[in-house]
Amino acid sequence: VTPPPGRVRPDKIVSTELNHLKSQISLLLSSGYPGLDSASKYYLQSSGKLFRPMVVFLMARATSVAPKVQGWEAACVSLESKFNNPIAPKSIIADKNPDLSLLSSRSMPANILGTAPGEAIAVLGTQRRLAEIVELIHTASLLHDDVVDHAETRRGMPSANVFSGNKLSVLAGDYMLGRASVFLARLRQPEVIELIAEVISELVKGELYQLTNTRTDYGSEGYLKKSLDYYLEKTYLKTASLISKSCRAAAVLGGATEPVANAAYVYGKHMGLAFQLIDDVLDYTGSSEELGKPATADLELGLATAPVFYAWEEFPELGPMIARKFEQPGDAARARELVYKSKGIERTRELAQSFCDTAKEAIQIFPDTEARAGLEEVLNMVLSRKK
Ligand code: FPP
Ligand code: MG
Ligand code: MG
Repeated sequence: VTPPPGRVRPDKIVSTELNHLKSQISLLLSSGYPGLDSASKYYLQSSGKLFRPMVVFLMARATSVAPKVQGWEAACVSLESKFNNPIAPKSIIADKNPDLSLLSSRSMPANILGTAPGEAIAVLGTQRRLAEIVELIHTASLLHDDVVDHAETRRGMPSANVFSGNKLSVLAGDYMLGRASVFLARLRQPEVIELIAEVISELVKGELYQLTNTRTDYGSEGYLKKSLDYYLEKTYLKTASLISKSCRAAAVLGGATEPVANAAYVYGKHMGLAFQLIDDVLDYTGSSEELGKPATADLELGLATAPVFYAWEEFPELGPMIARKFEQPGDAARARELVYKSKGIERTRELAQSFCDTAKEAIQIFPDTEARAGLEEVLNMVLSRKK
């Protein structure tokens, strides 16, 4: 989605960082086993949106701002003289580890005093590495997801399970997780390691929640509310966990204070929830050509998402269909028809909008920079995207 003229282009703000991302990930993945290499790089070569890395880069920039506080310059001078070398505070740890020093030197300004208070500092090497790790984990989850979902297409091409077969897809996904874990550990940042390791288990939990989507207490008091809560919990695990925790990790790597790190998390969580809500709307409203994968697939897979839960409030006959995962002949078609007749899609969009409002509010504590405007524009993109 291209924003109207006059508004910032989030991908342009971090285009330098994004341009290097794919070749960098390719280097991280080379295994020397051609089958594994081609399976693991298959989705990386396709036209992925690089949405998560883009958000990590924007968050890194939005939170890496020289604080507008008195004494800032004096503090920098004292740090510099302490280490007798014109380096930024953030790259100090780099000197202890050759791997990290390579990471940090590439993007740091030579002298932090060159950065005026309130001005954005470049993205750190460690934050770039985080973006690469996040894309690796996301891609690994897609490789596994397409096996679990028996997918046939993704991004307008045969899906990896079709291209390489189930076995290589699973192994390539595992391999990517292994590589991601190695590079995560090399960041030498315990909180970031914990955050991202937890994402991996939460992705699996989200997938399991989805498989066991159907409650057995159909018709009981508060069933709709409980179903929606369960769905949002699943949505957090499946989508928002990776985005929210990588936003927080980006801020933590930049040395952010707790309120800033928390605001990054709150932004990521609500934007991630909205992202998946719109994904679930697009399953009803998008075309397969636009999406590059089959549209109206969820009902066929037995999945009830927000539009159908809201529609059910207007059309009680949806209840038993949801409970039996739309498995009787004609269920999916009838359910789709009722969703279109209902306010389900509109109400799902409204919920996504309210999450985006919360996300926007959270980052108002950041200084007013181009990167923060980029994060705000990402929210508009999430709400108006067509694929
Ligand atoms: C896409 O959902 C899938 C995910 C967001 C997560 C999938 C997670 C697993 C398979 C667990 C294993 C995790 C790892 C890290 C290897 P979707 O099927 O609704 O979307 P789609 O339409 O793009 O396929
Ligand atoms: Mg899928
Ligand atoms: Mg799936």
